[in-house]
Amino acid sequence: MANEKDSVTPYNSEQTKKIQVASMFNKIARKYDFLNHLLSLGIDRLWRRKTVRMISAISPHNLLDIATGTGDLAFTAAKKMPATSITGVDISEGMLEIAMEKAGKMGISQQVTFRYGDSENLDFERDSFDAIMVAFGVRNFENLDKGLEEMFRVLKHGGSVFILEFSKPRIFPFKTIFNTYFKYVLPRIGRFTSKDHKAYSYLFESVQAFPDFEKFVSIMEKAGFHSNKFYPMTFGICTIYTGKK
Ligand SMILES: C[S@@+](CC[C@H](N)C(=O)[O-])C[C@H]1O[C@@H](n2cnc3c(N)ncnc32)[C@H](O)[C@@H]1O
Repeated sequence: MANEKDSVTPYNSEQTKKIQVASMFNKIARKYDFLNHLLSLGIDRLWRRKTVRMISAISPHNLLDIATGTGDLAFTAAKKMPATSITGVDISEGMLEIAMEKAGKMGISQQVTFRYGDSENLDFERDSFDAIMVAFGVRNFENLDKGLEEMFRVLKHGGSVFILEFSKPRIFPFKTIFNTYFKYVLPRIGRFTSKDHKAYSYLFESVQAFPDFEKFVSIMEKAGFHSNKFYPMTFGICTIYTGKK
């Protein structure tokens, strides 16, 4: 099992990973978008756009965005696929509040709706969605196996899943340069700007502990997905995983 016991948590407290993660995102919610774009030098937008391009190739009628956060992946998808109805779920009320404000400002609250939802216990019927996407969410799940099994359950037969997540670059010297930035520079900027002492060191630690590439694909297989593939981007900093039910 991709287990909870030795998983990295934001605050190393006695609380469950889920409570710690929700509370961390509630705390940094107002700074999240700004820091995302700053710390990735805007490349996070390209990664989301590439994910959405792959999804648009299957023209889903409805689409679930798990761990939607402030909704950036959902909005990118809405722009590219105006006929697709999108539902975003998250366990952080603070992040959802911002997602809803943004949807209102963009005038797309009809097409994109947000609600509280835990990936490990999704409040949807079996076989509900044509496609499911998750960006930078699966690493934060308390129980990865359960989260993937729930995604499999609510996906329609023949439907596809698209998972965007950080991975660990393997190519020297890029690997060394990137790790120095990711381990030492990024947490300092994140700490100073977000005022949360742990959030951005948790980011580095959780990526180091998270299974990537072939390892993640084998966990997807175990959850039931088939035809799984992965597409590393930007020297392997980030990877898109795809699979089918
Ligand atoms: C790094 S943010 C990603 C947000 C967004 N997808 C993006 O691309 O910017 C991770 C999000 O995962 C959410 N999350 C963590 N565990 C979750 C769970 N079990 N169910 C639903 N959302 C979860 C957090 O609350 C947070 O908003």
